Amino acid sequence: MLPAMPARALFPTLVYEARLPPAGWRTFNQRLLHECLQTREDDVAGQRWSATRYPGGYTSYGSLCRMHTLSPTFAALERKLRRHVRAYARALELDLEGRELAMTDCWINIMPRLVVHSLHLHPLSTLSGTYYVQTPRGAPGIKFEDPRLDRFMAAPPRKPDCRPEHQPWVTVPATAGKLVLFESWLRHEVPPNPVEAERVSISFNYGWF
Ligand code: NI
Repeated sequence: MLPAMPARALFPTLVYEARLPPAGWRTFNQRLLHECLQTREDDVAGQRWSATRYPGGYTSYGSLCRMHTLSPTFAALERKLRRHVRAYARALELDLEGRELAMTDCWINIMPRLVVHSLHLHPLSTLSGTYYVQTPRGAPGIKFEDPRLDRFMAAPPRKPDCRPEHQPWVTVPATAGKLVLFESWLRHEVPPNPVEAERVSISFNYGWF
């Protein structure tokens, strides 16, 4: 028997993925989808904001960025997310004593064909994530970047078939009914949507400070 490999992983970056319980998420997503599309119709300030900062798409990030305080459906989503956020914080072993980790922002993203959300992080937040409402076949996932990339200097490339934890970019597929959580400093992007149908998601931030 070979001895155990005398190398261990330090400084891991944890990304949390889970699905809402199968009973009911489809009906719930229909309600969310309806509200997302209706909000796009009504939100003139958001349409204007999106025209310059999210060309071809719609986001309520610049106009209605606290949907969980405006809509009972989004408030229900916030309640459904709570246990996952707690589980993720536990996995990270965060010491949250004395203050509450609470949802601060919650906004809609609608990506028609060719709309892109380029590399970014979520400043001034602790944890962030996305819940997927409508994900047509072929719609892009969320692509995370190794946070150490700017220090790799003379590091050789990794083998193309190396494990995901050794890849410089990892794409988590977007699937309706699924949520993804990550630490807000982790850079990510959504590549252009190559399909005709709209990709609809709800993103959110949690703050502790
Ligand atoms: Ni983001």
